[in-house]
Formats: sequence, C-alpha cells, structure tokens
Amino acid sequence: MTNSTPKTMGQQFGRRSWAEPWKIKMVEPLNMSTPEQREKAMVEAGFNTFLLRSDDVYIDLLTDSGTGAMSDRQWAGMMMGDEAYAGSRNFYNLENALQTYYGYKHILPTHQGRGAEHLISQAVIKKGQYVPGNMYFTTTRLHQELAGGIFVDVIIDEAHDPVDLHPFKGNIDLVKLENLIQSKGAENIAYVSLAGTVNMAGGQPVSMENLKALRAMTDKYGIKLFLDATRMVENSLFIQEREQGYADKSIAEILKEFCGYTDGAWMSAKKDNLVNIGGWLAVNDWALFEELRNLVVVYEGLHTYGGLAGRDMEAMAIGIAESVKDEHVRSRVGQVRYLGELLTDWGIPIVQPVGGHAIFLNARAFYPHLKQIEFPAQTLAAELYLDSGIRSMERGIASAGRDAKTGDHYYPKLELTRLTIPRRVYTQAHMDVVAESVKAVYDARESTSGLKMVYEPKYLRFFQARFERL
Ligand code: F0G
Repeated sequence: MTNSTPKTMGQQFGRRSWAEPWKIKMVEPLNMSTPEQREKAMVEAGFNTFLLRSDDVYIDLLTDSGTGAMSDRQWAGMMMGDEAYAGSRNFYNLENALQTYYGYKHILPTHQGRGAEHLISQAVIKKGQYVPGNMYFTTTRLHQELAGGIFVDVIIDEAHDPVDLHPFKGNIDLVKLENLIQSKGAENIAYVSLAGTVNMAGGQPVSMENLKALRAMTDKYGIKLFLDATRMVENSLFIQEREQGYADKSIAEILKEFCGYTDGAWMSAKKDNLVNIGGWLAVNDWALFEELRNLVVVYEGLHTYGGLAGRDMEAMAIGIAESVKDEHVRSRVGQVRYLGELLTDWGIPIVQPVGGHAIFLNARAFYPHLKQIEFPAQTLAAELYLDSGIRSMERGIASAGRDAKTGDHYYPKLELTRLTIPRRVYTQAHMDVVAESVKAVYDARESTSGLKMVYEPKYLRFFQARFERL
C-alpha cells in the first residue's frame, strides 16, 4: 500500500462508532411541507406547537411521552391481552416486572402519569401542607396544589443556571429543605417529591449520594419520600457514568438500589417504560396502598387495570424489561448527546450538561433582545417549525403559568425550548437535519420579534394558549 492510497475514516482514526441496538422492521412515512403551508398552519395554531396537527409536522420533537416505538416483542404481547375486567393475567405480569426491576411492593396501574399523581396527592396531602421538590413539573405541581398542597422548590441553585456544569443538577439542596422543615414543622410537610431526572431543569439527574443524604434527613424528621420515576432509568445511566462506585453496576442494579431508598413512586410509563399509554403508582406501605386502592376505583378503574387495557399492561411489562438494558439506555441518551454536541460545536446556547431525554435551547440567550413577557421560548418553537416543520415545545414563562394567590405570571429563571427525542424512532440523519434547522433559526435571530398571548386557559395554559406576532 502506498502513501497516496486514500484511507477510510475508520482506518485513519481507528474510529469505533456506536449504533442503535435495533433494526427497523416497519416504517411510517413522514410528511414534507412548503414554507407557505407551514406559515398557514402556524397562524391557525395560534403560534402554539401543541395546536398543530401532526400531519403538518415533519420531525416531531414535541415530547418523548408516548411517542416511542415498541419492539416486535411488545407488539406480540399486545396480542396476548387478557381483557378480563378483574384479575387480568397481564396485570400480574406488570406487577411482577415492577417488583423485579423497581422493587416496590404494592402496585396500581393508572391511565398515565397524571392519574397516579392525582391519587397520591389526594391520599397524602392535607390542605395547607408543604410539598418540597427538586423543581416543579407542570402536572405534578398542579395535582399537589389541587389537593391543597403548597409546592416549594428545593433544588440546588445550579439547576437554575443553564451553563453550570454540575454533574447532578437534579440534586436537592439539603440546607434549603432542612430550613423549610424547621420553619414550617415536620408535621406540615406532606412528603418530599423527588424526580429523577428533572424534566424542567433539562433532564438533569439526581445522585445516589444526594438521595442517601435525603433519606437520612427525611428519616430524622419522619417525612415520607416519593419518587417521580418517569425517567429514572435514564437517571441511572448518569449515576453509572458519573458517580464513584457505580461504573461496574448495571442500570438495572442502580435503578433498584435508588428506588429502594424511597417509600413509593409514580410513573408516566409513556417515557422510560416504552409504551404509548400507561402509568403506575407503587408504594411499600400497606395502609397507604389500601387508601390508594380505594381511590383508584373512583378515578381510574378497578385496581387490576387502572384505566388500561390488558394488552397495554402486557406491552408495559415487556417494555420495562427492555428499558433497563444497558445498551438500550446508552443508545437512547447517546442520540440526545449527539444532537447536543452538534449544536454546542456551532456555539448555539443550550442547557449544559446535556440531559437524558431532550436538548433544551436557551431561548433567553438565543433572543437576548426579547423580554420574557414576549415569550422568547414560544417564539423559538414557532420559528423552528416555520423553518423546517420540526415541532418542539416551550418550557418557559407560558409553561410556568400564574401564581394561584397573586394571579401574576411566574417568571421562571429558565426560558427554554425543548427538542425532545422519542425513544427508538428517529435516526442520526434526522438529528443532523434538526441541528441544521436550529442553526438556520439561530443565524436569523436578530431579525426575530416576539409574541403576545391572546387566549389563556385557566389550567396548564401552555397546552391551549394562543399567540400572535408582536
Ligand atoms: N412527571 C414527569 C417528570 C413528566 O415529564 C410527565 C409528563 C409527567 C409526570 C406526567 O405524566 O403525561 O403520563 O400524565 N411529561 C410529558 C412531557 C407530558 O412532555 O414532558 P403523563
């Protein structure tokens, strides 16, 4: 071989790429559109990506919730649905999977995560009690407030800084928590609401060390600790990668250890558990379980189906076992990171470090000339759609809503636009297209003007609010 023989990248750099641990068996064609069609669709949707028809969307990064692809095994499981009203075999398979991989004793299925949030909030919160948590999530906080609770954010300050590189930005600030407990009295704390990872902070993880210290503190004061386990599998990967002593443990081992320090969990199975619909609630305490079982029949369905079909529970049971495989979690989070690295290389402001399920564009830094009340993140989501048909989501002032007492807008520190990656759906080539579209919108940032809200619903306004160009 002479020096002039061209070499492949692999020969030159000894490069070893990663790839998805699956192959594609069925495809769903995507819809392409023209700029004129997108302008019309965006105006009709009131500049709210939630109000677009999915037929008008090209690459859909609205959410990773219920948008994942099921495996052939899960589809086969769907055919094995036992649609008995009571005692379906699929319920027992689900219960077994949850006890095996999450380790909780008593399980209730629910129609999705917010069904479980409703039940636990109603059962555990007494009116006027405080619910400290590591940053809020929209539906979680609302259910806590509807039950009479007062949510208090006790996440570490670093979580509110989009460029701080703290490896566990989901951690609870134990000083903030202890101050709250001492000033309000332990009896006035309903429970600690811990999410792993923290969606609104950018998919940021909680460390095992922080959890252990939190458990010690809640034990000291006799306070319960419940986990939002929605993306706890992804959180487990960050522990494996970043925390001393966990490099040789499997995701499944880390997940079970983590859950073992908590008193129970609620779950949106539409994320980590790889199903299109479903959720669950799990607790270890029998008396609390009895109360929850009373409530589930009122709001969801009998305690062995909780609003789900037997086939849904079967798909979930199989999805849970698939979701904790190390190669699955690595490729899932790896794809998110790949997109993050492209954007970072181009100097585009995103929340760092990149989290588990999404890239969060920092709309404040993107559009420094827009005031927060001109909805920079909502504007960015609209511009991205207009550029390429990619659908993203606002996570800023519109999502934060209003203070129930004063009626004022909450002005969250983070004003973000979320590019959420569905599990096992898009390829690396799609990520390239997304990155290039974000770059085009970034290059046009100086000539972009903001939005004003012209219709505002009472609850979770971001879902249905309408906007117009300023
Ligand atoms: N908790 C977290 C952390 C979530 O991200 C979600 C949903 C829920 C609870 C509620 O679960 O939707 O099944 O009722 N998050 C979705 C999202 C909607 O797009 O981030 P659900």
